[in-house]
Amino acid sequence: MKLTVNGTEHEVDFEDDMPLLWVLRDELNIKGVKYGCGVAQCGACTVHIDGEAVRSCQTAAADVWGAVTTIEGLGTPDAMHAVQAAWVDHQVAQCGYCQSGQMMQAAALLAANPAPTDADIDDAMNGNLCRCGTYPRIRAAVKTAATKLQEV
Ligand code: FES
Ligand code: FES
Repeated sequence: MKLTVNGTEHEVDFEDDMPLLWVLRDELNIKGVKYGCGVAQCGACTVHIDGEAVRSCQTAAADVWGAVTTIEGLGTPDAMHAVQAAWVDHQVAQCGYCQSGQMMQAAALLAANPAPTDADIDDAMNGNLCRCGTYPRIRAAVKTAATKLQEV
């Protein structure tokens, strides 16, 4: 089956019920996407499919309906996505494990809602857990990214 990830088309072979997360990490060696709970409860495995934030641990690779983007494809070190730049500005990451999923969720939120309220941010980010407790910095970074995106 063909899978487009971060703009590159891959021919991959997998069982029908293989989660997208395993295909990304084990077949394609894309390690920015993380395994946390494996049961759609933590958000560490969040990627985009056609811009929509999905939990790749609970999405069968065979059901993927569009292009996949992981944190590696959101921006580059020379041309960071506004969310990535805001994460750096606010020094959001602590251990970092949850943060690729957090940024993918935040980027999908801002694509759908360019001026989110605090409640919108809390709602959208609610399913992304951070055992290090970086939530206040995440909220601040989402607001900074929203402002930056509106200036563009
Ligand atoms: S690993 Fe997918 S939501 Fe936790
Ligand atoms: S930064 Fe450590 S789990 Fe979120």
